[in-house]
This record gives sequence, C-alpha cells and structure tokens, in this order.
Amino acid sequence: MSKKLLSEKFYSELKKIRPRYPINQAALLPALHLAQAEHGWLSDEVMDEVAAAIDIPPPVVREVVTFYTMYNLKPVGKYHVQVCTNISCALLGAEELMGHCEKRLGIEGGETTRDNKFTITEVECLGSCGTAPCVQINDDYHENMTPERMDKLFTELS
Ligand code: FES
Repeated sequence: MSKKLLSEKFYSELKKIRPRYPINQAALLPALHLAQAEHGWLSDEVMDEVAAAIDIPPPVVREVVTFYTMYNLKPVGKYHVQVCTNISCALLGAEELMGHCEKRLGIEGGETTRDNKFTITEVECLGSCGTAPCVQINDDYHENMTPERMDKLFTELS
C-alpha cells in the first residue's frame, strides 16, 4: 500500500476499539468516525485505508459511507451546518430555516462558502425531534432553531 493517510493515533485508537466488537465489520462505524475526525471527510483513499485497517472489502466501506449522512464524501468548511428537514423539523419550519441559511451564506445546500468557513447540508432526522427544528454544527446540536437564532450563531462563528 502507498503512504498511509491515517495517523498513528488513528491506528492506536482502532486497536483499543476493535476488541469491543465481535467481528471486524462491527468496528467500521467508529473507525470511519475516527478517520473523518482526522481528515474532515472521507476520500476514496481514506476509505480504502480504513477497509485495509479493519480487514473488510472496500465496497462494504463505500456502501456504509454512502448510506449515512453523517459521513462527508467531499471536503466541508470549518463549520458544517447540517439542517434536519425531516418530518418533525419540517413541520416546525426547517425548510424556511434551510432557505434562510442558504440566503445568508450565499450558497446552496451541499456547497461551501468561498472562504471555506461554512458548508450547509440538508440532513435526515438527527434524533432530536422533540426540540425541532434541529441543526447540527460540527459535533454540537442547536435545538428549537429559528432564522433569528441561526443569524446569531452565524455572527458568533464569523
Ligand atoms: S425530524 Fe428533525 S430531528 Fe428528527
């Protein structure tokens, strides 16, 4: 294999995680999480390295990565703004919120601002339906969101 893209830290964390699971494939989600935390997204090369690291076929890794919206298939900005537009959030204004984010940042869903600061993505249920609409920015949840609260956040992060 060519030069490794994943760090020693990735491999040592993986060594700790792997015994917690009965089969290699079960360690895939946490392995991908670690890889994405290092690179910000999962390129084909990084996916191949993860597959080799836990000894499963590369197509299995791709199937999993393309199934879950939490994995990024292309580079994202410093702040990845993920707006849930699933049913509970939609009923409480998520579409309007998404449109507001797009207008405020001057980009469409799935795009990144030119300064690489913000990416906005429309995502499926974030599991926080009771506090809809919900927006995830990097690892943090922001609940009961409104366009005004979104503006406040954008100002703080700019
Ligand atoms: S529908 Fe948005 S968090 Fe569940």
